[in-house]
Amino acid sequence: SDDTFWYEGTPFPRAHYSPELLRKVQEEFVLKDEDVVTVTFPKSGTNWLIEILCLIRSKGDTKWVQSVPTWERSPWIETKPGFASANKKEGPRLLSSHLPIHLFPKSFFSSKAKVIYVIRNPKDVIVSSYFFWNSINWIEKPKSVEQYLEWFLEGKVPYGSWFDHVRAWMSMRERENFLMLSYEELKHDTERTVEKICQFLGKKVEPEELSLVLKNSSFEVMRENKMSNFSLLDECYLVHKNPLMRKGITGDWKNYFTVAQAEAFDELFQEKMADLPRELFPWE
Ligand code: A3P
Repeated sequence: SDDTFWYEGTPFPRAHYSPELLRKVQEEFVLKDEDVVTVTFPKSGTNWLIEILCLIRSKGDTKWVQSVPTWERSPWIETKPGFASANKKEGPRLLSSHLPIHLFPKSFFSSKAKVIYVIRNPKDVIVSSYFFWNSINWIEKPKSVEQYLEWFLEGKVPYGSWFDHVRAWMSMRERENFLMLSYEELKHDTERTVEKICQFLGKKVEPEELSLVLKNSSFEVMRENKMSNFSLLDECYLVHKNPLMRKGITGDWKNYFTVAQAEAFDELFQEKMADLPRELFPWE
């Protein structure tokens, strides 16, 4: 529809992206060796990981996460304000992106900048996205989970095909400066996963600090933090309709998919991802 443009095979909402900026990000954005970038397909746990990274940096202290909004602590490089704010930032930066790998800054591939890529059960991504896009006033709203599922399978959603996004980023998984995590392991083994993140970052965290990081990045605490729960984005995101911190669980798809839909989805997943080891996808 009219609210979308396609850039190198990927659809983007016109309201917040432009082909010129996407080209600039890809060609000119300089990633530095000390940068840490959160990369996800939308609704996979982006904001959760950002909160964890910020809290690791502040040793669990909440001053930073409670006084500066997420998108300023870890700017989204492909958006206009994010690009500007990322370029102004000093020192080791936290950055975020939803870009598919073929549109990611070229400078990454010759740098030591670290990327953490979070995947999530695509059926849960679909449900979470359905609610999220329904609260946004600059994009065509899906009328039902079923309709959103159709768009998702056709790759006609912001940032394109989940399958292509995940597959292409996964090809980086043997790299030293790349860490792949899942929403599921974050949820079910948060402590061990946060330790894994610290190890990847080369950060030593004391046990008391670790427990503060865990407490302050919990769903309940994040939901109440207006710097993290998107309530400041009032004009473009109707938080009261569907909060960003909506449910924060795994397997919510079971409440929305029919048995037939789930079976058809699994079959297609199998078809598209058959050549990848099953253990890369840690969900049922
Ligand atoms: P649900 O809609 O399933 O609840 P993103 O940050 O990529 O937009 O992803 C948003 C999803 O992550 C939402 O999923 C949200 O509830 C979940 N989430 C955010 N913070 C979380 C936390 N601390 N613990 C668990 N889930 C969290």
